[in-house]
Amino acid sequence: GKSGYDHYMLKEIHDQPRAIRRCLRGRLRELDGAVEIDELGGLDRPDRVHFVACGTSYHASLYGARLFRERGIPSTAFLASEYDVGKIPIDEGTAVIGVTQSGETADTLAALREANSAGATTVTVSNVVGSSASREADHVLYIRAGPEISVAATKTFASQQVALTLLASAITGACDRDTLEALRSLPDHVQSVLDQSRTHEIAAEYADAEMDAYFFIGRGYAAPVALEGALKLKEISYAHAEGFPAGELKHGPLALVTERTPVFAVVTGDSRAETMLGNINEVSSRGAPVVAVTDSPEPLAADVDHVVPIPETDPRLAPILANVQLQLVAYWIARELGRSIDKPRNLAKSVTVQ
Ligand code: M6R
Repeated sequence: GKSGYDHYMLKEIHDQPRAIRRCLRGRLRELDGAVEIDELGGLDRPDRVHFVACGTSYHASLYGARLFRERGIPSTAFLASEYDVGKIPIDEGTAVIGVTQSGETADTLAALREANSAGATTVTVSNVVGSSASREADHVLYIRAGPEISVAATKTFASQQVALTLLASAITGACDRDTLEALRSLPDHVQSVLDQSRTHEIAAEYADAEMDAYFFIGRGYAAPVALEGALKLKEISYAHAEGFPAGELKHGPLALVTERTPVFAVVTGDSRAETMLGNINEVSSRGAPVVAVTDSPEPLAADVDHVVPIPETDPRLAPILANVQLQLVAYWIARELGRSIDKPRNLAKSVTVQ
C-alpha cells in the first residue's frame, strides 16, 4: 500500500534512502572500499560503452556515460529508439548497456537484441528480476529499488544513478575513495533532504496557470538532472517544462524567458562556477523567477529568488540530492493543480510498443 502517503509517488520519493541502501548492500568492500559486484563476474573493461534507454532511464544513462568517460572509457548515451546498430560501429570491445527500470520497454529491448546480434557485450541495468531485458543481456545488474507503482519514475532514477556509479567503478577498477565514502553517506543525505524540504512552499508560489513554462538548467553531472526535473514536472502536472544544459540558454531558449517562466537551476559541484552563475543572471535579468537548488554553503553570487539547499557532498553525487528536491517540486505543483499524480493522462508505466 501507500504506507500512509496520499500517493505512491510521494511514498516512493520517501523510499529513496532505503532503496539506495539496498543498491549498495554487499557491493562496497569494507576493507579497502573497492566496489565488487558479484553478478558481473567475467565482464572485462570495454573499449567503449553505448547506453541505450528511454525517458528517465535515458537521463540516468547520460549521467552514467559521463562517469565512464571521466574514467577514460569513451561512452555515449543513446535514446533506444534512435539506436541504429547498422550505422554505429560496434564490436566485441563495445559494451552496450540497456538501462530500464521495468526491463520491458520495447525500444530498449530491441536495441539490446540488435547489439547482441552485432556481437557486442550486453549489460542490462534493471529493477525487475527476470524481466525480458535481464534475460536478453550477457550480464545483469539489479538496482534493487523495490517495486515502483507510480507512473513517474522516482526512486528508480536515484537507484540507477547509484548503480551506474558502482558499475563505472567496478568495470574500470578505479575506486575513488571520496566518492565511495560519499556513497555510503548518500542515504542519510537523502533522508535529511526529505526531512527538511520546504518545496511545498515553492510549489504554492509557482503552481500558477499564469505561468507560460518552467525551465530547468544545470551543467555537467547536473545537466541530466535538469532534463529529469522537467520531465517529471511535465509528466505529472501537464505544465510545459523544458530542461537543458545551461550553456544552451543563449542558443535559443532565452528567447522564451520572461517573468512568467520560472527557472530551476541546479547549482552543485563544479557547476557552482562563474559560468552557471552567469546563466542565472541572464534569466533573472529578463525577469524570470529563479529557484536555485544548491549545496553551496555560501550565498550564491547570483540573483536568485529562492535557495533550496541540499547537503554538501561529492560533486558527482550532489545532483542526486538536487533531484530529490526537484521530484518534490513536481509532486507539490501537480498536487496544487489537482492532477492525477500516480496515473497521469495518456501515459503507461511500461511502454511495450515501439
Ligand atoms: O522501464 P523503463 O526504465 O525502460 O522506462 C523508460 C521510460 O518509459 C520511463 O522512464 C518514463 O520516462 C517514466 N514514466 C518517467 O517518469
